[in-house]
Amino acid sequence: MRFAHISDLHFGSVCLSPLQFFSKRWLGNFNFLFNRRKGFDHSRLDELIDLFKAEHVTHVIITGDLTVTSRKIEFKKAKQFIDRLKREGFAVFTIPGNHDQYTKQSGRKRIFYTFFDSQFDQSCPLNLKDHRVTYMKWGQFWLVAIDTAVATPFSSSQGYFSPETEDNLKRALEAIPPKEPVILLNHFPFVLNDVEKKQLLRGAELKKLLTKYPNILLYLHGHSHRQTVADLRPNRLPILSDSGSTPYINNGACHLFDARERRLKLCVYRYDEHWKPDETHDFAL
Ligand SMILES: [Fe+2]
Repeated sequence: MRFAHISDLHFGSVCLSPLQFFSKRWLGNFNFLFNRRKGFDHSRLDELIDLFKAEHVTHVIITGDLTVTSRKIEFKKAKQFIDRLKREGFAVFTIPGNHDQYTKQSGRKRIFYTFFDSQFDQSCPLNLKDHRVTYMKWGQFWLVAIDTAVATPFSSSQGYFSPETEDNLKRALEAIPPKEPVILLNHFPFVLNDVEKKQLLRGAELKKLLTKYPNILLYLHGHSHRQTVADLRPNRLPILSDSGSTPYINNGACHLFDARERRLKLCVYRYDEHWKPDETHDFAL
């Protein structure tokens, strides 16, 4: 099984509507105009498709922040890219990030799920939109996804691992045979090493829960825009994969995984005129 992890694609567009001043959208729009727009090169995503084909990738996982301020036009741009991946034959799994539930209204309407799937397997009793958790059997793995994105006040980009989400995640993990490996998707890292206004609230509870399920092998996340790979298994925690913000000019990356029998290989690709392998990791399972 060969799969790719990319994140924080941030498809944006300049908003001219005066209505933006009735929500925090004006802030995201301001940032997009003067900072973010220059920092991203979305043509790199088109070139990723060639890399995926050459490397025989079958699945692509995107850990949130597909948009900048949750506008429909931004979701449509993200959907165009994902539809293109699907047309090329890749299966795609997506979860929302805080930018995909950016304003109170987009959070209340759960607009992300108007454009993207709420569950990966229709027979799963839990879905992301209603339960904030979903799961499915995926080859030798189980894929479990949680939605911890919430609309936040001005200048905060926190997530929230609510007690209800915790209960539903426990329900999912209890339904999975304890010796079968799990890949967990969440937009936010559970490691609380960022400033408070960017953290996952109740992240400590999520971390505690992870230590109780040693079959959670891999935790894929984004949000930080800092590419990271860390094997935390000696601490009874999963292997962390943060691809950073993939189209970000400075340090965007793409993680390609190759899972066979008792080994998991990870190759980090960075962009330098084209996508090039930069470092590799080999994990014994
Ligand atoms: Fe984020």
